[in-house]
Amino acid sequence: MARGGEGVADAYEQHLADHERDRRRAQGSFYTPPALVDWILDRALPATPGATVLDPACGTGHFLVAAARRLGVRAVHGSDLDPEAVRIARERLQALDPGVAADEIERQVVLADGLTAWEGRTFDAVVGNPPFLGQLRRRSAGQNEEHRRALGAYTDTSAVFLHRALDLVAPGGVVALVQPLSVLAARDAGPVRRAVAERGTLTDFWCSDRPVFEGTPVLTCVPVVRVGAGPGPDPDAWGRLAAPTFGIPVAPLAAGAAGAGTVGDLADCTADFRDQFYGLAPFVRDRLPGGTPLVTTGLIDPAESRWGRTATRFARVRYDEPSVDLAALRADGALARWADARLVPKLLVAGQGRVIEAVADEHGAWLPSVPVVSVVPRDRADLWRLLAVLLAPPVVAHAATRYLGAGLTPGSVKVSARQVAALPLPADAGAWAEGADLARQAQHAGEDERPGLLVATGRVMTAAYGAGDDVLDWWAGRVRRRTDDSAAGAGSAPA
Ligand SMILES: C[S@@+](CC[C@H](N)C(=O)[O-])C[C@H]1O[C@@H](n2cnc3c(N)ncnc32)[C@H](O)[C@@H]1O
Repeated sequence: MARGGEGVADAYEQHLADHERDRRRAQGSFYTPPALVDWILDRALPATPGATVLDPACGTGHFLVAAARRLGVRAVHGSDLDPEAVRIARERLQALDPGVAADEIERQVVLADGLTAWEGRTFDAVVGNPPFLGQLRRRSAGQNEEHRRALGAYTDTSAVFLHRALDLVAPGGVVALVQPLSVLAARDAGPVRRAVAERGTLTDFWCSDRPVFEGTPVLTCVPVVRVGAGPGPDPDAWGRLAAPTFGIPVAPLAAGAAGAGTVGDLADCTADFRDQFYGLAPFVRDRLPGGTPLVTTGLIDPAESRWGRTATRFARVRYDEPSVDLAALRADGALARWADARLVPKLLVAGQGRVIEAVADEHGAWLPSVPVVSVVPRDRADLWRLLAVLLAPPVVAHAATRYLGAGLTPGSVKVSARQVAALPLPADAGAWAEGADLARQAQHAGEDERPGLLVATGRVMTAAYGAGDDVLDWWAGRVRRRTDDSAAGAGSAPA
């Protein structure tokens, strides 16, 4: 048994962990649990004699050693930028098969940038756990400029490795690289997801709802891609792969709502930015008689505004009733047109939460505070229909799935103005009309009746989209928890 080599690898990783946290962070060196290595190899390695495998960021060689046990030392190839890790990886392989010449192993495991090494070569499988590095730290990790330019400056290094790997496997070969969960939805990983869709199929998918790499809270996944067959998964729907892991029911929206249009067909969805935030600040007062309510995200609940009942913060100041001095704002001029455009019947949508939180401003009397999204129906008659859509459980599940990995907490819903505009409308007009009526009743109801009416709205809207009870139950659980949260937080300032 090659215990000596294994011990050295463990010791080196412990050394990295104990003494070189910073360097480890800079290089993205977090090592892969053996069970996950086995899971990946089970799916990636062909049984054919003579098959070859590459780990382009091999570290001390966990994947290489495990693959060599299955295929023989001559089958495995690796690269890494860390000389000590490369030395250890070579030593472990040598210990596994002393019959292989040292210079042969040196050619198989090289000190090199995995994004540029191996040019012109192909393998039967590319596996491993490439570094996860955001834009800032990337320089230290080396990079393939050509790939970078093709993919965009903000693409995570791990996704660049995935993209590169598609070129390094022969047709029929498999790429299985550990990725951060953000690969599912990050806009900057879009070109990589598209390349996967064009060049392969997804044959398997692993993900975890808790961190599995010691020393980092990053959530991870492993898309297993067979290159050469196609077409692969919709680049905009990778979140579906991970939805079951996070308990999100995958709503059959695409089928149910095909052709029914989107929120953007009925309304203008807009967010405000710095100009409005800083422009408004001098005109906000607390409890200004006759002032115009300023509604922050913390004050928006499903079909409910807590303005005047819950304190909130604006520009770091706590307000019981944040109000805009509209006369002074208009006299000042800069935001006068903005305020007039906003003071119309609309929905106000909080960007992020357990569900989509939206409330109707039926009299057009409130101003939104950044980052609240305003949804202004082109026909006022659509106001409550649009509220019903934003309360609809399948729409919330769709948004939670679609943006899984992009939000702060997986499973929470985070929608921008553009994303609200893209939410699908229901196909069943009758159920939708009923849902709109219930949504209006829910907003007009008192505290006691509202929860029941919200669930009734959710039930009817679930039917309007042709979805099942699992979606309703999931949503109702989240609305309930969200209501408990606000009750617990009532009177205090939301963060
Ligand atoms: C997360 S570790 C994974 C190691 C190995 N795959 C494992 O799981 O045991 C990532 C490795 O990538 C290496 N690395 C960082 N940038 C690299 C690059 N451009 N080319 C090759 N290796 C790189 C680091 O030195 C580190 O050893």
